[in-house]
Amino acid sequence: MKAVNGNLVLLKPLCPPLLPRLLPQPNPKEFLPMQAPFAVIKGQTLPLNQALVPVNDRSFLFGDSLYEVVSTYQGKPYFTRDHLQRLRATAAGIYFDLPWEDAWFENEIRTGLNQMPGQEAYVRIVVSRGSGDFNIDIDTVETEPFCVTIFKPSLPMNPRFRAQGFSLAVPETRRNSPRSLNPAFKTGNYLNNILCLKEAKDQGADDALILDLEGHITELTTSNFFIVRQGEIWTAPLDVGILDGITRRYLIQVARELGLTVHEKRFGLEEVLSADEAFVSSTLKGAMPVWKVNGQVIHEGYGEINRAVDDAYWQYVEAHLDSY
Ligand SMILES: Cc1ncc(COP(=O)(O)O)c(C=O)c1O
Repeated sequence: MKAVNGNLVLLKPLCPPLLPRLLPQPNPKEFLPMQAPFAVIKGQTLPLNQALVPVNDRSFLFGDSLYEVVSTYQGKPYFTRDHLQRLRATAAGIYFDLPWEDAWFENEIRTGLNQMPGQEAYVRIVVSRGSGDFNIDIDTVETEPFCVTIFKPSLPMNPRFRAQGFSLAVPETRRNSPRSLNPAFKTGNYLNNILCLKEAKDQGADDALILDLEGHITELTTSNFFIVRQGEIWTAPLDVGILDGITRRYLIQVARELGLTVHEKRFGLEEVLSADEAFVSSTLKGAMPVWKVNGQVIHEGYGEINRAVDDAYWQYVEAHLDSY
């Protein structure tokens, strides 16, 4: 235990996320599960090479789709309701009526997870608006929306990212303005992020730290971003144009419960380069350290506050596993 701002916090993770854990193993004589990765479509489990979309599907033609990634902890999916709520918010934002209730999605997820006993899973729900004429007009859609849920085992994170942290580069490409394709919508159109990641990797970095059109920090290509300055946490506000990350939400909550101050405010690269710590968040990562930005070291490995909020986050996930 260690004091952070006068509060006692755990310094060691209770159970490191995404590392193999001892889960109940099935009896192979009784159960022959589908080999992951596989897909579930309307309750039917299929190998990936049989889970196909037609060439006139709008997700393929225009990126006219939306998605969520849910993960498991001790074999159970967590924050599923939050993910489904965000899926609905994205759908509403792109004029898309989802025909399914939450219970329907939960059943698709359960069907897949039943095929993966003893494994932690990465679960990707992808919904296309459907297919029709090769015409961008949504009034020309001829079919029902199409939902496929893809399952694969969660792979352990590269140990370098835990030991040292991510190395980030700021790309020339800026984050989409919320007034064009709003980054709050988790759609299948990730070209903005794809181009930023390509630029960052070309500079030898692991990921991109993306600015908005005015030069404010937004987020990474698949993670939200935080800095620590003088014991306080800063992260970009939602209206700068970022994804409303589920992990970000709970990290802010648990950090405040630890007595830490969290500012959701606009800031620039200067504040990042002079920060004491920086970390990134996503469903697959929790809160993981940022080592360098544009070649300049911020902090090597987990800083004290990064460690405290990451531990508190996974404790929160574990404590609430049966309530999602
Ligand atoms: C652009 C972007 N930002 C942030 C996140 C993190 O969101 P969450 O914590 O809900 O996984 C993601 C996750 O895919 C993302 O794609």
